[in-house]
Amino acid sequence: MTAHLLVFGSALVCAATLTTRATGATDAPMRQTAPRWTIPATAAEEKNPLPVNAATLAGGKRLYDQKCQNCHGAAGKGDGPDADTKYADTMDLTQAARAARNSDGQVFYKIWNGRLNPKMPAQSADMTRDQVWAVVAYVQSLRQK
Ligand code: HEC
Repeated sequence: MTAHLLVFGSALVCAATLTTRATGATDAPMRQTAPRWTIPATAAEEKNPLPVNAATLAGGKRLYDQKCQNCHGAAGKGDGPDADTKYADTMDLTQAARAARNSDGQVFYKIWNGRLNPKMPAQSADMTRDQVWAVVAYVQSLRQK
């Protein structure tokens, strides 16, 4: 039953994604990066739909290494070669103190929508939702408890 609903939900999400992409294609190559974090109010409650297991974490790490570590650093400390040192603190994904503002759902929308200043590229055009959720699982595993 639950699995059934999930499948149905994914189909809807896919349809929505395709629509967004079609619209976005007109203003390419501009990325759809929002000026600030765009995070729905319900995000704090949103749970990762993927099982957080070794396979998910390994997939998330692969994507992180390709797309995130240049800014956030190999261990998530905010010290990658492209990091703006002014934001070293907010870019440190390992801090326990910043966990409350980075629930799974909130992290998902930060990655999905990006932000303009300070700049973090939106991934909605480059990754599927499941890929982003895999990255969410991985970066949450870097955070100190
Ligand atoms: C071009 C550099 C850049 C890239 C690439 C990048 N980020 Fe970021 N990220 C930032 C900056 C800058 C901030 C801090 C924004 C702020 O101060 O609010 C940030 C903030 C974040 C935050 C919020 C941290 C907090 O405590 O509020 C998360 C989570 C995050 N990034 C995850 C990722 C992931 C995962 C990826 C790869 C898919 C990624 N970022 C790619 C620059 C980047």
